[in-house]
Amino acid sequence: MLSNKLQDALNQQINDEYYSSYLYQAMVAYLEDLNLDGCAHWMKMQAEEEHLHALKLFDYVVERGGRVELFAIAQPAKEWDSPRAAFEAALDHEKVMTENISKLADLAITERDHATNNLLQWYVSEQVEEEATVDDILKKLDMMGDTGTGLFLMDRELKNRPTPTPIDQAGA
Ligand SMILES: [Fe+2]
Ligand SMILES: [Fe+2]
Repeated sequence: MLSNKLQDALNQQINDEYYSSYLYQAMVAYLEDLNLDGCAHWMKMQAEEEHLHALKLFDYVVERGGRVELFAIAQPAKEWDSPRAAFEAALDHEKVMTENISKLADLAITERDHATNNLLQWYVSEQVEEEATVDDILKKLDMMGDTGTGLFLMDRELKNRPTPTPIDQAGA
Protein backbone atom coordinates (compact mmCIF):
# COMPACT_ATOMS: atom_id res chain seq x y z
CA MET A 1 0.00 0.00 0.00
CA LEU A 2 1.03 3.57 -0.63
CA SER A 3 1.48 5.73 2.45
CA ASN A 4 -0.99 8.59 2.69
CA LYS A 5 1.81 11.08 2.37
CA LEU A 6 3.08 9.50 -0.83
CA GLN A 7 -0.42 9.10 -2.23
CA ASP A 8 -1.07 12.82 -1.68
CA ALA A 9 2.23 13.73 -3.32
CA LEU A 10 1.54 11.48 -6.32
CA ASN A 11 -1.92 13.01 -6.71
CA GLN A 12 -0.30 16.44 -6.70
CA GLN A 13 2.13 15.28 -9.38
CA ILE A 14 -0.78 14.01 -11.50
CA ASN A 15 -2.16 17.55 -11.28
CA ASP A 16 1.22 19.00 -12.23
CA GLU A 17 1.39 16.76 -15.31
CA TYR A 18 -2.12 17.82 -16.34
CA TYR A 19 -1.11 21.43 -15.80
CA SER A 20 1.97 20.86 -17.98
CA SER A 21 -0.29 19.54 -20.71
CA TYR A 22 -2.60 22.53 -20.29
CA LEU A 23 0.32 24.99 -20.40
CA TYR A 24 1.66 23.49 -23.62
CA GLN A 25 -1.81 23.47 -25.12
CA ALA A 26 -1.98 27.22 -24.32
CA MET A 27 1.30 27.59 -26.21
CA VAL A 28 -0.28 25.69 -29.13
CA ALA A 29 -3.02 28.34 -29.27
CA TYR A 30 -0.43 31.14 -29.12
CA LEU A 31 1.75 29.60 -31.86
CA GLU A 32 -1.22 28.78 -34.08
CA ASP A 33 -2.24 32.41 -33.81
CA LEU A 34 1.16 33.35 -35.28
CA ASN A 35 0.71 30.82 -38.11
CA LEU A 36 3.69 28.83 -36.86
CA ASP A 37 2.16 25.47 -37.69
CA GLY A 38 5.34 23.47 -37.09
CA CYS A 39 6.03 25.01 -33.67
CA ALA A 40 2.37 24.54 -32.77
CA HIS A 41 2.53 20.89 -33.88
CA TRP A 42 5.62 20.29 -31.74
CA MET A 43 3.92 21.86 -28.72
CA LYS A 44 0.79 19.80 -29.33
CA MET A 45 2.86 16.61 -29.23
CA GLN A 46 4.44 17.93 -26.03
CA ALA A 47 0.99 18.49 -24.51
CA GLU A 48 0.01 14.93 -25.45
CA GLU A 49 3.16 13.58 -23.87
CA GLU A 50 2.36 15.36 -20.61
CA HIS A 51 -1.10 13.84 -20.67
CA LEU A 52 0.55 10.42 -20.96
CA HIS A 53 2.77 11.29 -17.97
CA ALA A 54 -0.36 12.01 -15.94
CA LEU A 55 -2.00 8.76 -17.01
CA LYS A 56 1.05 6.68 -16.15
CA LEU A 57 0.97 8.06 -12.57
CA PHE A 58 -2.80 7.65 -12.44
CA ASP A 59 -2.54 3.96 -13.37
CA TYR A 60 0.28 3.44 -10.90
CA VAL A 61 -1.69 4.88 -7.95
CA VAL A 62 -4.62 2.62 -8.87
CA GLU A 63 -2.37 -0.43 -9.21
CA ARG A 64 -0.94 0.19 -5.75
CA GLY A 65 -4.43 0.20 -4.28
CA GLY A 66 -4.38 3.96 -3.77
CA ARG A 67 -7.06 6.50 -4.50
CA VAL A 68 -6.58 9.00 -7.28
CA GLU A 69 -7.85 12.47 -6.53
CA LEU A 70 -8.07 15.06 -9.28
CA PHE A 71 -7.59 18.70 -8.35
CA ALA A 72 -8.46 21.87 -10.28
CA ILE A 73 -6.00 22.71 -13.04
CA ALA A 74 -4.53 26.20 -12.85
CA GLN A 75 -5.09 28.59 -15.75
CA PRO A 76 -1.98 28.89 -17.93
CA ALA A 77 -0.71 32.10 -19.54
CA LYS A 78 -2.25 33.15 -22.86
CA GLU A 79 0.53 35.23 -24.43
CA TRP A 80 4.30 35.17 -24.58
CA ASP A 81 6.59 37.94 -25.84
CA SER A 82 7.80 35.86 -28.79
CA PRO A 83 7.92 32.24 -29.98
CA ARG A 84 11.37 32.03 -28.42
CA ALA A 85 9.97 33.30 -25.11
CA ALA A 86 7.37 30.50 -25.21
CA PHE A 87 10.12 27.87 -25.62
CA GLU A 88 12.09 29.54 -22.82
CA ALA A 89 9.01 29.34 -20.60
CA ALA A 90 8.72 25.67 -21.54
CA LEU A 91 12.31 25.05 -20.45
CA ASP A 92 11.78 26.93 -17.18
CA HIS A 93 8.67 24.89 -16.55
CA GLU A 94 10.50 21.62 -17.20
CA LYS A 95 13.19 22.64 -14.70
CA VAL A 96 10.51 23.15 -12.05
CA MET A 97 9.03 19.74 -12.92
CA THR A 98 12.47 18.12 -12.61
CA GLU A 99 12.74 19.60 -9.12
CA ASN A 100 9.27 18.26 -8.22
CA ILE A 101 10.15 14.77 -9.40
CA SER A 102 13.39 14.85 -7.39
CA LYS A 103 11.47 15.82 -4.26
CA LEU A 104 8.96 13.05 -4.91
CA ALA A 105 11.77 10.51 -5.29
CA ASP A 106 13.29 11.79 -2.02
CA LEU A 107 9.95 11.22 -0.32
CA ALA A 108 9.64 7.70 -1.77
CA ILE A 109 13.09 6.92 -0.34
CA THR A 110 12.19 8.39 3.07
CA GLU A 111 9.01 6.31 3.09
CA ARG A 112 11.08 3.28 2.02
CA ASP A 113 8.73 2.73 -0.93
CA HIS A 114 11.06 1.14 -3.46
CA ALA A 115 8.37 0.48 -6.07
CA THR A 116 7.42 4.16 -6.18
CA ASN A 117 11.05 5.19 -6.25
CA ASN A 118 11.54 2.81 -9.16
CA LEU A 119 8.61 4.36 -11.04
CA LEU A 120 9.94 7.84 -10.34
CA GLN A 121 13.33 6.97 -11.78
CA TRP A 122 11.56 6.65 -15.13
CA TYR A 123 10.39 10.26 -14.69
CA VAL A 124 13.90 11.33 -13.64
CA SER A 125 15.27 10.06 -16.97
CA GLU A 126 12.34 11.53 -18.88
CA GLN A 127 13.05 14.96 -17.36
CA VAL A 128 16.68 14.84 -18.53
CA GLU A 129 15.41 14.20 -22.05
CA GLU A 130 12.71 16.89 -21.87
CA GLU A 131 15.10 19.59 -20.71
CA ALA A 132 17.68 18.61 -23.32
CA THR A 133 15.15 18.68 -26.17
CA VAL A 134 13.86 22.18 -25.40
CA ASP A 135 17.38 23.42 -24.73
CA ASP A 136 18.39 22.12 -28.16
CA ILE A 137 15.56 24.07 -29.83
CA LEU A 138 16.65 27.26 -28.04
CA LYS A 139 20.29 26.78 -29.04
CA LYS A 140 19.30 26.26 -32.66
CA LEU A 141 17.22 29.43 -32.55
CA ASP A 142 20.31 31.22 -31.21
CA MET A 143 22.31 29.92 -34.16
CA MET A 144 19.76 30.61 -36.90
CA GLY A 145 18.03 33.61 -35.38
CA ASP A 146 14.63 33.54 -33.74
CA THR A 147 12.83 35.69 -36.28
CA GLY A 148 12.53 35.65 -40.07
CA THR A 149 14.37 32.85 -41.88
CA GLY A 150 15.69 31.20 -38.71
CA LEU A 151 12.22 30.91 -37.25
CA PHE A 152 10.83 29.76 -40.60
CA LEU A 153 13.42 26.95 -40.77
CA MET A 154 12.80 25.94 -37.17
CA ASP A 155 9.06 25.87 -37.81
CA ARG A 156 9.66 23.51 -40.72
CA GLU A 157 11.84 21.22 -38.61
CA LEU A 158 9.47 21.05 -35.65
CA LYS A 159 6.63 19.94 -37.91
CA ASN A 160 8.25 16.49 -38.02
CA ARG A 161 7.87 15.56 -34.38
CA PRO A 162 6.11 12.18 -34.23
CA THR A 163 3.06 11.42 -32.09
CA PRO A 164 4.15 10.14 -28.68
CA THR A 165 3.46 6.45 -28.15
CA PRO A 166 1.39 5.43 -25.11
CA ILE A 167 3.59 4.54 -22.15
CA ASP A 168 2.69 1.41 -20.26
CA GLN A 169 2.47 1.68 -16.49
CA ALA A 170 5.48 -0.57 -15.92
CA GLY A 171 7.98 1.49 -17.87
CA ALA A 172 9.29 2.56 -21.28
FE1 LIG B 1 5.79 15.43 -17.56
FE1 LIG C 1 7.57 17.60 -19.39
